[in-house]
Amino acid sequence: MNQHARLDTSPIPFIDIAAQRRRLGRAVDDAIARVLAHCQFIQGPEVPALEADLAAFCGARHAIGCSSGTDALLLVLMAWDVGPGDAVFCPAFTFCATAEVVALLGATPVMADVQAETFNLDPDSLLRAVATAKRLGLKPRAVIPVDLFGLPADHDAIGAIAAEHGLLVLDDAAQAFGAAYRGKKLGTLATATATSFFPAKPLGCYGDGGVVFTDDDALAARIRSLRVHGEGAVDKYDAARIGITGRIDSIQAAILIEKLKIFPDEIVARDRVASRYSAGLADVASVPRVGNESTSVWAQYTIRLAPGRRVALAAALQAQGIPTAIYYRKALHRQEAYQRFPVADGGAPVSERLAEEVISLPMHAYLEPPVQDRIIAAVRGVLSA
Ligand SMILES: Cc1ncc(COP(=O)(O)O)c(C=O)c1O
Repeated sequence: MNQHARLDTSPIPFIDIAAQRRRLGRAVDDAIARVLAHCQFIQGPEVPALEADLAAFCGARHAIGCSSGTDALLLVLMAWDVGPGDAVFCPAFTFCATAEVVALLGATPVMADVQAETFNLDPDSLLRAVATAKRLGLKPRAVIPVDLFGLPADHDAIGAIAAEHGLLVLDDAAQAFGAAYRGKKLGTLATATATSFFPAKPLGCYGDGGVVFTDDDALAARIRSLRVHGEGAVDKYDAARIGITGRIDSIQAAILIEKLKIFPDEIVARDRVASRYSAGLADVASVPRVGNESTSVWAQYTIRLAPGRRVALAAALQAQGIPTAIYYRKALHRQEAYQRFPVADGGAPVSERLAEEVISLPMHAYLEPPVQDRIIAAVRGVLSA
């Protein structure tokens, strides 16, 4: 490069929702306009239409649209009557919502460690967590594996432990809808799967939204009731159970119907971006690896650096207009709200180490090669200095 060429420091977005809006053209505007015309803002025809599209996309029998990913998780636990005295196992390295829903129901989140290579629940630590819960007099009820950063958890190993210990499995695929494990799309790997349509997610809406997938007819029926205040089968003003306002609204459903049409393309594009990052950075940082059994939708592209190095990297990139993010700066059991909950015997040392090492780079389907080259060159400039 010409030594005297001026460095491009124009701001790069971390996630470019505006680029996706341009690609979608008028499709989303028209879809919203249709809802504005019929005015059925709650439980309008877009909701069952989206649910059918989502179920077909991943091969699940039921898709139940919810008001957020958090409510999707909560509704499943409510439908299973999870409550005080129950232990629900969660990874210690995740977004707090995974454990929040457990605590909200008065049950006990018991945190297990993750594996450094995948950022996902470590089956050995899960086994120790089951023993820990029993020792504390709790009833092991369920496990919530998280498919962190878009990569499926080790569902075979977790499923085997769940079967052995009678645990229900709720897959927290908030970051990973669209990913696959041993040829099956997430949504079909656990008794129930919850995902989020928060705008920054790989498939996001323009507000809050989520969905539960399940093949269990009775569970689906309970969740459908619970998301509308526990409405009865005959009369919606006759509450059969205590529920919440947990449904997705028609405008978000209309938006998602359009966005789902381009999602397969976007998954391919995200994977291309991730491969390019890995090719450009593998010799200067620890880059994420995806095993042959899985595909990732790359909710985040997260590298690991020796503790202490990411502060300088983030500052140098920021000065060049390149944003970074840290997911997560503190393991869950180190956060004020979750410190009082038990951790598996042996603790969660990997989660604690990851919290000091991780840093995520801009990632979206519209990251053009020249812009990505600028990011790669900037990261290399700092890390190979
Ligand atoms: C792992 C995980 N679980 C649950 C959630 C909650 O989803 P939402 O923000 O839609 O409530 C999120 C999203 O932020 C998440 O990343």
